[in-house]
Amino acid sequence: MSNGYILVKQSLNLNGQVNLVGAKNAVLPIMAALILTQGKSILHNVPNSADVNQMITLLKTLGAQIIFDAKKNYLQVDTSTINNFEVKPEIMNKMRASILVMGPLLARFAKAKVAMPGGCLIGTRPIDLHLKGFERIGVSIEQDSHFFNAKLSTNSKIKTEKRIVLQYPSVGATENLAMLAVLYPGETTIVNSALEPEVLDFLDVLKKMGAKIKLQAPSIIRISGVNKLKPIEHKIIPDRLEAGALLLAAAITGGKIYLPDACHDHMDIFLEKLKEMGHKIEIKNGIKLKATKNPKAVDFKTGPYPGFPTDLQAPMMAAQCLTNGISHIEETVFENRLMHAKELEKMGAQIQIDGNKAIINGVEQLYGAEVIATDIRASCALVLAGLVAQGETKVLGINHWRRGYDKFENKLVVLGANVLAKQD
Ligand code: EPZ
Repeated sequence: MSNGYILVKQSLNLNGQVNLVGAKNAVLPIMAALILTQGKSILHNVPNSADVNQMITLLKTLGAQIIFDAKKNYLQVDTSTINNFEVKPEIMNKMRASILVMGPLLARFAKAKVAMPGGCLIGTRPIDLHLKGFERIGVSIEQDSHFFNAKLSTNSKIKTEKRIVLQYPSVGATENLAMLAVLYPGETTIVNSALEPEVLDFLDVLKKMGAKIKLQAPSIIRISGVNKLKPIEHKIIPDRLEAGALLLAAAITGGKIYLPDACHDHMDIFLEKLKEMGHKIEIKNGIKLKATKNPKAVDFKTGPYPGFPTDLQAPMMAAQCLTNGISHIEETVFENRLMHAKELEKMGAQIQIDGNKAIINGVEQLYGAEVIATDIRASCALVLAGLVAQGETKVLGINHWRRGYDKFENKLVVLGANVLAKQD
């Protein structure tokens, strides 16, 4: 864990208007997808986060030439010089999204040599659904001590239909398999695919490149392989996870906020839960929230889209700590994503954990403490709790905060918060 930390002082009644950055979980697969093309692509609204900069580093090790104007959130990627299909462990293990280069490398080179990816320690994070799907498309994969050595078998050029049924609607597996299928001869069908807004933005980019993709109810993606895909220009969708965190910052401090570029149809169930708590939500030209001073307890269960997003579970738990009554959370997506509960308890929260369930007994007040962020979204939950806690909170583990957000603390300051990020 890096030595940096975030200092948060009690800051009530946050109030104002902010714009959103592009979605981290859309821009990362979209950057990987550029490997499928030869030439210069341009992406707008790209967040200046550690994960984006890590994906830039990864693409450069493959041979891509990249210009990133972080102030303008403008990224230009020239993939015509990509000449390498191997990614070493020390690059792969910095984030989960590294695994998303496996599909496009197989599509471009008919082979890929990658190590296990990294990512938040919110579960074991296996890649079995990715590997099984690749094998269904005719990829042979051998694992040695450090690498997966994958080869697309040559005779697999025969046009046959490949049908992949995902046992779980995995976001990453959907994206990885789609990136091989779009340049693979014949029809590939992915059944039980992920449908998160970030996945749909990613699929829009593949279609802009010239891919032949059809979506069919309930969650089926039909892909007809083409011979070539072209470079694109694209604006990344606004980050619904940043939007959710900002709405919760206003909610937890009893303030009000306006997010003009937030897409309410990316976060229906989350907004419903805020309304159930008693917060006033308006969804015209973006999203407006006016907080209630007496929030009610609310229950929710995380799930694949359109369910309550697992990435908003931790920030929402922080808000539930100060409601009247008892709230229940069930985390169904990751098996170890409640670690922030014990950190919130250090601040005076009353939370019982039972497996993947949390019972939150609302309290009158939280108190500043020194706490440890265990993953990206836990770091957000602890900063939000610090905004309402009496005194000062020191959130260790700024590396997680930096991985998932683009100077989010600056936006909180614009809203009136007393927050300072101290990077060593
Ligand atoms: C993506 O991770 C996001 N990351 C995650 O955001 C997000 O929480 C997750 O989707 C769910 O929405 C990026 O897009 C970069 P999954 P991913 O494959 O693709 C199991 C954040 O904070 N699974 O949908 O890794 C897996 O263990 C991050 O921004 C397998 O069992 O998620 C998990 O329990 C955290 N085998 C469940 O499926 C596999 O091969 C969902 O994982 C793949 C996944």
